[in-house]
Amino acid sequence: MKGRSLADILLLAPLLPVVEEALHAHGLSTARAWEQPDDAATLERLGPVRALATTYGGPVSAALIERFPRLEIISVFGVGYDSIDLGAAAARGVVVTNTPDVLTEEVADLTMGLLLCTVRELPQADRFVREGRWAQGPYPLTASLRDKTVGIFGLGRIGKAVARRCEAFGLSVAYHGRSPQDVPYRYYDALVDLAREVDILVITAPATRDTRGAVSAEVLSALGSDGVLINVARGSLVDEPALVRALSSRTIRAAGLDVFAAEPHVPAELLALDHVVVLPHVGSASLATRNAMGKLVADNLISWFAGKGPLTPVPETS
Ligand code: 8YV
Repeated sequence: MKGRSLADILLLAPLLPVVEEALHAHGLSTARAWEQPDDAATLERLGPVRALATTYGGPVSAALIERFPRLEIISVFGVGYDSIDLGAAAARGVVVTNTPDVLTEEVADLTMGLLLCTVRELPQADRFVREGRWAQGPYPLTASLRDKTVGIFGLGRIGKAVARRCEAFGLSVAYHGRSPQDVPYRYYDALVDLAREVDILVITAPATRDTRGAVSAEVLSALGSDGVLINVARGSLVDEPALVRALSSRTIRAAGLDVFAAEPHVPAELLALDHVVVLPHVGSASLATRNAMGKLVADNLISWFAGKGPLTPVPETS
């Protein structure tokens, strides 16, 4: 792997124009992996890249890291970085950065939207009007958010922003996470106990080995027949087949889902159920927030290439 690289930075997935514009404005060159011919000569010329920029849809495995012996940094578009093999990155001393903070409020807004849509059945009511059914009588009465308790699984930045909104809605808040925090909400050491105590369980925890499948059949059954599940984190935190069973058998009342186990695939059984609201992973997907995320992806790389270190490294590789 001798010689100069085709570019300073290899983009593994399409990112917003703001990313390449900012990098180019700072004299950094980029190549787009999906536009490169898949031949040995190109691989040879891309091998010496020092940086990768990617997102959830462009995973970075240990094998991929192996192909770039001079790799120093992976800049991820998104707050979640579960698509990166962190162990392999750390073993090679490769820094990984993400885009925290800039999307917190946007994702929390979306969570409240999904909560209202699910509990008050807004998409279903919209379909009811469009299908001309209103003339035959009123829409059936729905469940309510009044006097309810929301349980937040993962009280990080986004979880806290959701909790603040829940307080403004007059909802009680409780939470589960790795450890109790200095917050005015009740802590539950076990997720199943939180699920038993609350009416609505909101998932805002990161996808890790520990949280994989954490929302199990047992947790769903503890949530109970009036319980509602909202997931804006990652599909992998939920045992999806168990969720389908819980919804089909009315073990829980309803679910609002922005994320799924194998995106963009959504199980047909879920789509067939009217008491499920599904969104195509749009938690952070406003133009303003996505541009802010893109700018932070670029700023991390610009800072790195200027020798000033990463701006927002993920804890595990910093
Ligand atoms: C994006 C996300 O959908 O930040 C995250 O972890 O999942 C979202 O903001 C994703 O990064 C875009 O591909």
